[in-house]
Amino acid sequence: MKALVLSGGAGTRLRPITHTSAKQLVPVANKAVLFYGLESIAEAGITDVGMIVGDTAAEIEEAVGDGSQFGLKVTYIPQERPLGLAHAVLIARDYLGDDDFVMYLGDNFIVGGITDLVDEFRGNRPDAQILLTRVADPRAFGVAELDPSGQVVSLEEKPDRPKSDLALVGVYLFTPLIHEAVRAIEPSWRGELEITHAIQHLIDSRADVRSTVITGYWKDTGNVGDMLEVNRMVLEGMDRRIDGDVDTASETIGRVVVEEGARIVNSRIVGPAVIGSGTVISNSYVGPFTSIAESCRITDSELEFSIVLRDSSIQGVGRIEASLIGRHVEVTPAPSVPSAHRFVLGDHSKVQITS
Ligand code: G1P
Repeated sequence: MKALVLSGGAGTRLRPITHTSAKQLVPVANKAVLFYGLESIAEAGITDVGMIVGDTAAEIEEAVGDGSQFGLKVTYIPQERPLGLAHAVLIARDYLGDDDFVMYLGDNFIVGGITDLVDEFRGNRPDAQILLTRVADPRAFGVAELDPSGQVVSLEEKPDRPKSDLALVGVYLFTPLIHEAVRAIEPSWRGELEITHAIQHLIDSRADVRSTVITGYWKDTGNVGDMLEVNRMVLEGMDRRIDGDVDTASETIGRVVVEEGARIVNSRIVGPAVIGSGTVISNSYVGPFTSIAESCRITDSELEFSIVLRDSSIQGVGRIEASLIGRHVEVTPAPSVPSAHRFVLGDHSKVQITS
């Protein structure tokens, strides 16, 4: 069995965070979303990965390399334009050969991995297996309609009037039968060859398409609250590890990760929290459910339930909560006084705060 991992696309939904970088590299607990996917694939016992890349190919290749850091063998398959998920299957035909495969969308995050699913698929070997999850606004997804016995009746791509709240999760298990289906369909209204339509084609030709409903799912729908929530969930599962420098005037409480090369000076860190390498926290408080990436400076500030991407600095601004802060951001004081701040700051933002 192989894996086909999709890491192209523009990532408009999490803008401004993904304005300047690949959406698959958005960090959760200081690790790219894509890396969790690759780890789950390796855990499921799959080693051959075809990676579909687009405009952000260089960035993805720099991060993933040949895949050996995950125990994988990665082959890059360039997709000229984002012409759809079924198009990705089309262009991967030679790579995939006659193997079964799991198609994994690199911007999807599945808590708990995919090992059980892959095992189940290997055991039963239906023609295809899809994953579904209940979401608040299904209009941003492919949506499944099930009959009372749980059988998939129809699939619609981003419908205005969804027939259920069951969204298609970006992990699909396929036998080679899918190759006929992706050749049989026409582009959708958005000009893409939709995998949703290819699966509908399988259903229409009476293929055995099974579905599994899962919980513990996240994708970058632009909802910062969701992103903070998935970050919180992942941080909660981490073990304490202090590899960096914590001075005697500082305190680290609970599940705190301080990466090698990070420095904590006269500060208090209450876990779960992670501090990336090269980051310096001084005269500050970092509270639970906070991820601070590499090479940041946090000085004379308080930060809780937030995500800070790399190379950003926050100085003398009092308390920040429930915020997502991009790369190369500078947050500094300005004259006068609000009591709490909430931000969504894109990469390279510069913000002045009264204090
Ligand atoms: C794609 C699929 C959609 C699925 C979603 C999951 O949407 O077309 O059916 O629900 O991935 O991430 P897209 O990311 O292309 O908007």
